[in-house]
Amino acid sequence: MGYEDIIAARIVAFLARCYNKREVKKIAVLTSGGDAPGMNACIRAIVRYGVSHKLEEVVGIRRGYSGLLERDFITLGPRSVANIIQRGGTFLGTSRCEEMKTPQGIKKAIEILGKDCIEGLITIGGDGTFRGAAALAEAGDIKVIGLPGTIDNDVYGTDYTIGFDTAVNTALDAIDKIRDTAESLERPFFVEVMGRHRGFIALNVGIAGGAEDILVPEIETDTEELCRSIERDLSKGKKSSIVVVAEGDEAGGALRIAQHVGERLSVEYRVCVLGHVQRGGSPTARDRILASKLGAAAVDALLNGKSGYMVGEMNGEISLTPLPETWGKRKELDTNLLRLIKILSV
Ligand code: F6P
Repeated sequence: MGYEDIIAARIVAFLARCYNKREVKKIAVLTSGGDAPGMNACIRAIVRYGVSHKLEEVVGIRRGYSGLLERDFITLGPRSVANIIQRGGTFLGTSRCEEMKTPQGIKKAIEILGKDCIEGLITIGGDGTFRGAAALAEAGDIKVIGLPGTIDNDVYGTDYTIGFDTAVNTALDAIDKIRDTAESLERPFFVEVMGRHRGFIALNVGIAGGAEDILVPEIETDTEELCRSIERDLSKGKKSSIVVVAEGDEAGGALRIAQHVGERLSVEYRVCVLGHVQRGGSPTARDRILASKLGAAAVDALLNGKSGYMVGEMNGEISLTPLPETWGKRKELDTNLLRLIKILSV
């Protein structure tokens, strides 16, 4: 290596050090994976908090990681996020992007962000989103913060995810209505709620809706015991019986379980799969507040030089969790609530 090469290498190292210490001035935000009510409130908070904290530019990336890889960017300002706090979905759009699961996709994303001089990225979503975010944080100079946005609440490192409260309330509203018809015609109802891998929605809807039984993926379903439980309810003179089934329950969805119970007890039953209704609608106050707090805290985290973390809320305090822990560690269901459902449905 000649003298000039050594000087050049030292300049590159010096600039790299400056870059790492440099204040974050330009950030981007994207939503990815399943949309969740409250994502818009979160984007609004990021933009307005960022602008008021001297960020020079906030870029919105459309359609999640797919939009990032196609450089589908828009500049966001306080006015472009007006009148969205009450809207469900995500006005930036979202996607489930296979390319971001590959090293080539990560490399391409880093190059695009680098060319646009984006120094910080906030990704709002669930575990798939965080896996991409962690890879970006590891691979490049860009600072990356994740925010939990999914109706499933299945993310370690935060008590609640943005969208969960709205989804629970939407499902609860449906169950209250189902209870009216179930009682009038005296038939058991099997209501399927979302939750691909976890039973957080089922558990919370079950307790709030006074369900007789809930079936969640975390606990092996004993269909014989379920039949006995429904029989006991009928013999006690109960006019309606609501069984809440998480879509990911290992015994199959509500349809399969209901068919088994119906045949075994020779009773007429009905099934209602709530589906994507739970993902839409105006976010509840709780979701809007959580989204606003977490959006602001994510900007703070970037301005403080943090990267590779998810910002969440635990016991009422803002928390930072290393991204790999958000999917690597398991958030437990509240087993006391599970017991309480059985006690309260006598
Ligand atoms: O991850 C949120 C979620 O709503 C799950 O509860 C559900 O299983 C899944 O997304 C449905 O995904 P899609 O909208 O791609 O069908």
